[in-house]
Amino acid sequence: MLYDNFVNAYEKTFEECSRTIGRILKAFLQLKGKGHLLDAGCGNGCISEIFCSVDWEITGIDLSKSMISRALGRELPNCQFLIGDCLKLPFGSGIFDVYLGNLLINNLKDPKTLLTEAYRVLKPDGMILLTYPICRLQTDLLKIMKSALRSVKIGPKSSKPPNFLQHLSEFSSVQHSCIPIGLNLKSGLEACQFLSSLKEIKQLEKLNLKQAVFQFISSKVDQLLSQNKCLVFEICFVVGKKLGL
Ligand SMILES: C[S@@+](CC[C@H](N)C(=O)[O-])C[C@H]1O[C@@H](n2cnc3c(N)ncnc32)[C@H](O)[C@@H]1O
Repeated sequence: MLYDNFVNAYEKTFEECSRTIGRILKAFLQLKGKGHLLDAGCGNGCISEIFCSVDWEITGIDLSKSMISRALGRELPNCQFLIGDCLKLPFGSGIFDVYLGNLLINNLKDPKTLLTEAYRVLKPDGMILLTYPICRLQTDLLKIMKSALRSVKIGPKSSKPPNFLQHLSEFSSVQHSCIPIGLNLKSGLEACQFLSSLKEIKQLEKLNLKQAVFQFISSKVDQLLSQNKCLVFEICFVVGKKLGL
């Protein structure tokens, strides 16, 4: 599992970005009273940590053992974490008030099953809230990486957002918005270290092309940073409701 090898790099870079998104999600949800939130694909628990100051029960689930072990290490009040698959949730139907999936759906080949499961475990009137990154901006690390990999004909060819929106038809009041979020990388070298566990990079190692690709990525990132342009992701937010009975 990719994220088992990615925990340290993730914590150095994406955690900061996830926390920024988490604070936006918390301000948006304004959770009051009591309820139960599912932090789907919870990673190392940094989003749950932001939410645990409210009086809600929080359950985090993730496929990666290493991520869950970091989440458990936080010893957060009102939170439980378990290893499990969001495509086959180990919960009964209709038990969560909020299903939150931060930067999860873009990792999945089968978003339809994820959404069917999300719908099943939500209570009537429950809310789904998903985020995913898209690569549209010049200052986007993914865009730089994709162009580096394209020149060696490896890796993701498309910069289209994940195609799951049609599978949200069961939910009502579906709304989208996108905002730019900065990525906490300080140099081209750090960007390369961050990317080095990706499977596309592993393929490059076999072909002895890693050095050339890393030189390209590193110089592009350093160039942006020297122009005081921080790396930016555009994050899309999708929110919908399960209709009440
Ligand atoms: C980009 S990370 C986001 C982690 C966390 N939500 C955050 O915002 O920091 C994506 C996470 O989704 C998890 N993941 C991917 N597919 C999954 C699945 N089918 N079920 C559960 N977790 C999954 C990965 O292990 C990883 O921890």
